Amino acid sequence: MWKTIKSNWPVAIISIVVVIVSLSEILNSNRSSGTKFTSSLSATNDTGWVSPSLYTDFELEGEERNLVIYGSDIIANTSRYLGPHGSVKAISNGMNCQNCHLDAGKKRWGNNYSAVYSTYPKMRSRSGQIEGIYKRVSDCFERSLNGTAPDSNSREYQAIYAYMKWLGKDVKKGVKPNGSGIGKLEYLDRAAEPGKGKIVYAKYCQTCHGENGQGQLSLAGNSYEYPPLWGEHSYNDGAGLYRLSNFAGFIRSNMPFKQATHDNPALSTEDAWDVAAYVNSQPRPKKDHSQDWPEISKKPFDHPFGPYADSYSELQHKYGPYKPIIKQKEEMGKK
Ligand code: HEC
Ligand code: HEC
Repeated sequence: MWKTIKSNWPVAIISIVVVIVSLSEILNSNRSSGTKFTSSLSATNDTGWVSPSLYTDFELEGEERNLVIYGSDIIANTSRYLGPHGSVKAISNGMNCQNCHLDAGKKRWGNNYSAVYSTYPKMRSRSGQIEGIYKRVSDCFERSLNGTAPDSNSREYQAIYAYMKWLGKDVKKGVKPNGSGIGKLEYLDRAAEPGKGKIVYAKYCQTCHGENGQGQLSLAGNSYEYPPLWGEHSYNDGAGLYRLSNFAGFIRSNMPFKQATHDNPALSTEDAWDVAAYVNSQPRPKKDHSQDWPEISKKPFDHPFGPYADSYSELQHKYGPYKPIIKQKEEMGKK
């Protein structure tokens, strides 16, 4: 052993240097992101998750490999298969899952799928039920894609399931890796203002998403180059992005597209809340969500539909200020 190390000492020294440099990078990156996003403060020693790669995963073979590849393609190009002119079935609004789960659900802080296989089935208060992966996927079809879900025994759903299972294969049961889902933003002391958000929208968003939030179809016409943010082809009012905290957190880490990152956001916290308020004050499809949050005390602070267990209005739940609502929620929880 010592003999080999001695004869390979240049290699040994290089390896030690590499380890030290990467350790200090990891520590630094956590420190800088921790000051901007409250959620990363609690997970500073978790360096996050790296998606598996089809190029290096030789264990994934045969039919399972085909399913994973098809699943990844459905997430990236949902509309091609399941949109209004879909080759398999027309059951969704023309958006792709990837529009909100960036890089086919593999991007850090891009609403990725790293925690799906490890944390489902789980209890979810929106439905008041224990939900498996099929129910959760169906939810996004019915709300974010304002459509209907594919059958659980269809090849399309089997492929989506295989893909999510594969993405999460190295994540331990119950673990939610740092960088999964959507980053949390600090709350403002005031309500978010659609009027201010309109100005932010014109400056940072309009070139791609359009003056009326309608997005822009690709040349082939069967999917969006830039997805719609409101109007009849957008997500409905039962979708996760209709809650301001999800919208603001998602865009702060990811928009403008390919310019902002989680560690280097383009928008200030205020601009992110205000533009979220502007976009979510515009018209969009409606969903019957009267059965959602059956236990009203479990409604999140920014769920914009009453009745509530507290005394705050729908308007304040929608736009804030949220701090008093959260405080009252905590106090009621203690009783
Ligand atoms: C308009 C945006 C949008 C689109 C399009 C969208 N989703 Fe989602 N999705 C969300 C949001 C928001 C969440 C909740 C994230 C959170 O709570 O942290 C979510 C959550 C999920 C989750 C649960 C993730 C977890 O870790 O708990 C799954 C699974 C999922 N989506 C699947 C899909 C699938 C499959 C599609 C395409 C059929 C899709 N989504 C399309 C916005 C979207
Ligand atoms: C350079 C073009 C560009 C700009 C500028 C831009 N976006 Fe996007 N946006 C995109 C693209 C492209 C996607 C879809 C990403 C994908 O499918 O991989 C997207 C997706 C989204 C989504 C999720 C999908 C949906 O349609 O609901 C939201 C929300 C969003 N953008 C909001 C914004 C906001 C708010 C701004 C301004 C702060 C903004 N974007 C600026 C290109 C852009």
